[in-house]
Amino acid sequence: MKKSLYLSALAAVFLFLGCQEQKSVESQPTPAEAQKVAAIGEAAAGKLKQTLVAELTAAMQSGGTGAAIEVCSNKALQLTESIVDSSENVLAVKRTTFKYRNPQNAPDEWDAQALQVYEAAAQKGEALPPSYIQKIQREGETTFRYYQPLLTAGLCLNCHGDPNMLTQEVSAQLAALYPDDKATGYKEGDFRGLIRVSVALEE
Ligand code: HEC
Repeated sequence: MKKSLYLSALAAVFLFLGCQEQKSVESQPTPAEAQKVAAIGEAAAGKLKQTLVAELTAAMQSGGTGAAIEVCSNKALQLTESIVDSSENVLAVKRTTFKYRNPQNAPDEWDAQALQVYEAAAQKGEALPPSYIQKIQREGETTFRYYQPLLTAGLCLNCHGDPNMLTQEVSAQLAALYPDDKATGYKEGDFRGLIRVSVALEE
């Protein structure tokens, strides 16, 4: 009897600690924090956008859209890693969307909250916020997330447009690499997803 009481007390403590560990709180960044996070996030997101579009355009010109798919799936990760390495405030860079091609780009709960803000604006035909910042406190640590919207340009339709308009080569390659692809059916100007830059500010 005593022992089971002891065990359940122990279980309660573990449960409590477990919950504590999981718990994260979002709060409003101060204006000074928001300004710093925006500068760091903008630089990283800008670098990713520029290099990705340049790499895509070059690959499509030299090897066609089929070759560009490989560039996109292999290079995107390398590019994000090199951006992380180049700044000590940048913890991670990710692209995320509800309709993802690669399941690794699926949103977590905070990403989903940011995506909802953009999807709601897009549905109402409102202008998309140029950026969105979250302040997250977890396990005694504070980090920030800076998001920037990615729109579907004409170039993107070669691989994200109407599935019936994709070339056979592209369709076949996408089917082989991404059997659960959700990232087609976009039109020019559609909201495609977010670039997310995870930022730490030094104390
Ligand atoms: C040559 C084909 C191709 C073109 C052109 C292309 N993409 Fe992609 N896109 C891909 C592939 C392949 C992936 C999956 C990459 C991976 O495995 O991480 C992807 C992934 C993404 C993702 C990450 C989320 C997800 O769905 O997994 C975003 C966001 C994205 N593309 C936006 C764009 C935008 C915006 C453009 C135009 C500027 C564009 N893409 C042009 C092939 C392409």
